[in-house]
Amino acid sequence: MSFYEEKILPHIINCGCSTPDIMELRAKVVPLAYGDVLEVGMGSALNLDLYDSTQVNKVWGLEPSVGMRKRASKNLKKSPVHVEWLGLPGEKIPLEDSSVDSIVLTYTLCTIPDWRVAMEQMYRVLKPQGKLLFCEHGRSPDSSVERLQDKLNPVWGKLFGGCNLNRTVVKNIEESGFKIEWNDNMYMNKFAKFATYMSIGSAIKA
Ligand SMILES: C[S@@+](CC[C@H](N)C(=O)[O-])C[C@H]1O[C@@H](n2cnc3c(N)ncnc32)[C@H](O)[C@@H]1O
Repeated sequence: MSFYEEKILPHIINCGCSTPDIMELRAKVVPLAYGDVLEVGMGSALNLDLYDSTQVNKVWGLEPSVGMRKRASKNLKKSPVHVEWLGLPGEKIPLEDSSVDSIVLTYTLCTIPDWRVAMEQMYRVLKPQGKLLFCEHGRSPDSSVERLQDKLNPVWGKLFGGCNLNRTVVKNIEESGFKIEWNDNMYMNKFAKFATYMSIGSAIKA
């Protein structure tokens, strides 16, 4: 891992992902988690304060980046819920089949290199009645914005740890065997549509 990825990127991601608008969106999704929770790509642990600690038993925090796990330590100290780290990528979730009640996926599907394998893993570890809760940014439905997203994507990915601007969030979730229960899509910022087409919602195993 480069100096930039380990020491600088975690701070940039933490700032970019904790704006008031983004925290407001997270707050529509994260409190719905219950039981044994798997958070995929926990990053700097910005969701911890949003969990309903009366509903959550524990949170498995899966995060492959050492730099992000270090950046998260401050938030972990004041966490209202018990967290256990899993230092592996989403493509290799080290949990038993049907072992978690909820999966929380916030601003991570954009970054996982092999999202299909990671989604298969999420499907595998989620209990039959469990919920996948998501809050992600992705491909715009407007062709002019899509074109810009496709153009910027290679540079964007290099700057922001492999993040993709142009993944089809809801379609990718559905293609992985999940059924959407509810979903809202919106631009969060009309001046930066290419980076702020947000999809929030919840899905169950189809
Ligand atoms: C934009 S950050 C979002 C972090 C956090 N989920 C949040 O909501 O603030 C993307 C995160 O995905 C992590 N990541 C990268 N590759 C991954 C993989 N293969 N599996 C799981 N997480 C990954 C990164 O280390 C980073 O912490």
